[in-house]
Amino acid sequence: MSEKNIVDDAISKVNDMGTRAGDAIKDFKDSETAEKLADGIKRGAKTAVEGVAKGAKIAADGIAEGTKIASQTIKNNAEANAKKRASRRGTPFDQQSAYRTPNDDGKMVFMLRNGVAIPAVGYGSFLATEKEGKAVILDAFNEGYHYIDTAAFYKNEADIGEAIKESGIDREELFICSKVWPTMLGKDKLRESFEKSCSDLGVEYLNMLLIHWPKVSQKDEEWIPKLQESWAEMEDMYKEGKVRAIGLSNFLPHHIRPLLETARIKPMLDQLELHVGYMQEFTLKYLKQEKIMAQAWSPLGRAKMLEDERITALAEKYGKSAAQILLRYLIQRGIPAIPKASSPERMRENLDIFDFGLTDNEISFLSCITETGWSGEHPDLVEWE
Ligand SMILES: NC(=O)c1ccc[n+]([C@@H]2O[C@H](COP(=O)([O-])OP(=O)(O)OC[C@H]3O[C@@H](n4cnc5c(N)ncnc54)[C@H](OP(=O)(O)O)[C@@H]3O)[C@@H](O)[C@H]2O)c1
Repeated sequence: MSEKNIVDDAISKVNDMGTRAGDAIKDFKDSETAEKLADGIKRGAKTAVEGVAKGAKIAADGIAEGTKIASQTIKNNAEANAKKRASRRGTPFDQQSAYRTPNDDGKMVFMLRNGVAIPAVGYGSFLATEKEGKAVILDAFNEGYHYIDTAAFYKNEADIGEAIKESGIDREELFICSKVWPTMLGKDKLRESFEKSCSDLGVEYLNMLLIHWPKVSQKDEEWIPKLQESWAEMEDMYKEGKVRAIGLSNFLPHHIRPLLETARIKPMLDQLELHVGYMQEFTLKYLKQEKIMAQAWSPLGRAKMLEDERITALAEKYGKSAAQILLRYLIQRGIPAIPKASSPERMRENLDIFDFGLTDNEISFLSCITETGWSGEHPDLVEWE
């Protein structure tokens, strides 16, 4: 009942009482007593109406506040339930907008389909430790990298392990990704490779594990069943909590399709050679459809793209370096990158790409240039054995 209705109801009840009291005192002989009584009834009625009005207002306020709290609680519960449902299904992944997600300390992260956050820029460690060993990784930590990309093939996991230990950085703060070399595919060998990587790195779990290449050689006719068996083992390790994300590297659509035929969990990421001049648009389109995140290796085209005039012109326009333009391009395309750099200055420069933006037309222009700077490593043609 509204505040007004309560008051009207009270007034009508008091009037009713007044009328009945009036009738009852009609027969009084002493009219003075009758008037006093009538006055008393009037005053009583006024006080009663005021009291009812006040009470009604308090009640109405209380009801309004209660309704507000109840509807907020319903909204909060609905949101929490929606989040729970989303996390059970896997967070919806949108490659185009993923780069906008800042994590707690403001660093840019991308969100994998399973809700795992992956830094937008990681440190690529291939050939990085050859001269100075763990010192280079310690420099990278010092410059703000928390994400290290390595692989069994790089033979530097022990150096990285020493750096992790010496840095004193909390394990939970780090994102460590390793890869299984294609000669180690198959259930047991894959597990063995993973365990050796963890032991060299001195870690209990990996943030991400990738299958490095789909096959060792063109001659390998067994590559599909081998991959399917290996993927099942990756899924088991994921379920055991030994790896927080599982994915692929150098897989093209025709390598991913047979894997998906038997997969129970879809790969979360595919690490590919991607840079201005080699954007593999056909594969990117397929990955987007399948909600598999693309990640860029050799994002600077192994330094070959740094002298390109189209890049240096933009570098001049924005007062940035060519490397920063190349990395910013990838991030704006929604693609995380793992550049390798040897000096602290370059490491720092490669992280400093979040204070400017290329225009849509510049992104389009850079996406449409003819093929430049490709490494020549094609997943169907390389021979690793
Ligand atoms: N999954 C795969 O199959 C695969 C294959 C290749 C690479 N990767 C990963 O991707 C990472 C990066 O790829 P990448 O090393 O081949 O190529 P990249 O990162 O495109 O280029 C590295 C080259 O660029 C130079 N450089 C870096 N930052 C620079 C800057 N700010 N200014 C000027 N020069 C700069 C480096 O020189 P300095 O070192 O002398 O500073 C180095 O010569 C690897 O380390 C590895 O982790 C994965």
